[in-house]
Amino acid sequence: MFRDHTCGELRLANAGHTVTLAGWVQRSRKLGGMTFIDLRDRYGITQLVVEADADAALVEAATSLGREYVIQVVGEVDERQSKNPKMPTGDIEIKVASINILNKSVTPPFTIEDESDGGEDIRAKFRYLDLRRNPLQQALALRHRLAHEVRNYLDAQDFMEIETPYLIKSTPEGARDFVVPSRMNPGQFYALPQSPQTFKQLLMVAGYDRYFQIVRCFRDEDLRADRQPEFTQIDCEMSFVEQEDVLNMFEGMMRTLFKNVLNVDIPDPLPRMSWYDAMDGYGSDKPDVRFGMTIHEITDKVKGNGFAVLDDAAYVGAIAVPGGAGYTRKQIDEITEWVKRPQVGAKGLIYIKLNDDGSVKSSIDKFYTPEQLKAIAEAAEAKTGDIIFIMSGPQKRKVQTMLGVLRLEMGGRLGLRDPKVFAPLWIVDFPLLEWSDEDGRFYAMHHPFTAPKPEHMDWFYSDRKEDLEKVCANAYDFVLNGNELGGGSIRIHEADVQKRMFEVLGIGAEEAEYKFGFIIHAFQFGAPPHGGLAFGFDRVCTLFAGKESIRDFIAFPKNNQGRDVMIDSPSQIDQVQLDELNLDIRQNA
Ligand code: AMO
Repeated sequence: MFRDHTCGELRLANAGHTVTLAGWVQRSRKLGGMTFIDLRDRYGITQLVVEADADAALVEAATSLGREYVIQVVGEVDERQSKNPKMPTGDIEIKVASINILNKSVTPPFTIEDESDGGEDIRAKFRYLDLRRNPLQQALALRHRLAHEVRNYLDAQDFMEIETPYLIKSTPEGARDFVVPSRMNPGQFYALPQSPQTFKQLLMVAGYDRYFQIVRCFRDEDLRADRQPEFTQIDCEMSFVEQEDVLNMFEGMMRTLFKNVLNVDIPDPLPRMSWYDAMDGYGSDKPDVRFGMTIHEITDKVKGNGFAVLDDAAYVGAIAVPGGAGYTRKQIDEITEWVKRPQVGAKGLIYIKLNDDGSVKSSIDKFYTPEQLKAIAEAAEAKTGDIIFIMSGPQKRKVQTMLGVLRLEMGGRLGLRDPKVFAPLWIVDFPLLEWSDEDGRFYAMHHPFTAPKPEHMDWFYSDRKEDLEKVCANAYDFVLNGNELGGGSIRIHEADVQKRMFEVLGIGAEEAEYKFGFIIHAFQFGAPPHGGLAFGFDRVCTLFAGKESIRDFIAFPKNNQGRDVMIDSPSQIDQVQLDELNLDIRQNA
């Protein structure tokens, strides 16, 4: 037997027992002739001691150990002289009787400890060493635990886990596809699924009325902390359901995850907010509701005093920052510069301070009386001691979005975004369609399989842009602390409605047939009413851990350029492969 205990297991109760352990040498040090070795595996660290008067060969072996050597030791569990209360095994040590070096290691390029001295790039290149570190092991353990809980919950609710193919045809989820050339079909390509959306709907047609899958999805989009080119969804679909059934089922799932994994109780039922209220009040379709500081429209309150910037604006909005009246000129300038960065895109920032002494100070003093300024600030729900920040512009949603970004920044600066506080909610009543000025056409806000609300069918069949813009969908997002964790909708299940949807999206009959013929045809064979959603599993793990980067919760992630620097991918393929695939690489590529 290689080992009879792990490195995280032994306690005082084991004192006197002879044990065999195996693991990696975290570090070894000499102290007054004795050698102390920290032996590590994924369960913990156990201290080994080789006494000064031990057998010469044993002392020699102990001395020869380098970092990350893999060893097996036999020894007796002993109570420690100086205990380490920070370590679960800190009451004991192993008096080593023999050491067997199972494998040597070259010196690792960074320290394999909770706080590593290695930079991000080097750790990514040696990801298998980084994965030996405790924080990453904990992250993957949490991921495993969550996946297990998800399967338990859904299994108990009669969901079946069914795998769907990875080599498919393009699915329209708004991102670019990764494509795979087909050797057997020259000039033709598979696409990797952006999600199993169409397949899960076909499973509904096939009668598998409760489906789920913890499934890899692929999207060729620009990367951020919460996005990877391949990521994992908890993908779900149900038949014979209305929106209410789907929301209940999956807030039940999230409630169970929170309770069983974090011992956190989330509200029952979860709060719901319409997309319109989220945009108006938070400037975001994924509002962080851990704190207030909501956006207030003050367009009517500021007009008519001869200040052109506000007089000419279609929309003027403000947020009140608690305690902000104390900000210095310099601090306000810094915040103004911050909102002018291209990432936010504001032209400027107007402020009004309600000073503690009752006076008012503002960057627009010239145009308004103190009483007017006070009234404006109070319309944004400012109290004495607060500052309000005002933004304006020709497009309401654009201004609201910028105010929303500023709101998050100020919330962060004021410490109102504690990652250990969880404020989940549903965003509901999304518009079905989104108009693009640039392309002069509508896009599906969620995806083209989302059903219009039954009560909006007249608008849906109208030819007027104003009517189509008003159509809402039974679509919903699960939002947590300013992040979209999941989203879904009730689907179209009638071939005629689906055809109309493609028409509204400017997808001609021929193109629809070519791209989606399979699903339109399937709908003619008794498609049940159905709906579902998908959670971004990497994001669920990340937020449950109170962290920001999903990369830490994926064993082998890609970097921001979409590269796996450990295996050095993507990479070129050789001419033989290219020939087999009938591919030529452009010389200027
Ligand atoms: P959607 O596109 O909203 O919906 O995706 C569902 C969830 O997946 C996560 N997600 C991502 N996570 C990491 N990296 C990415 N690049 C990435 N893209 C998306 C998000 C998101 O909420 N088929 C529909 C679901 C449905 O309608 O049932 C879909 O894929 O957390």
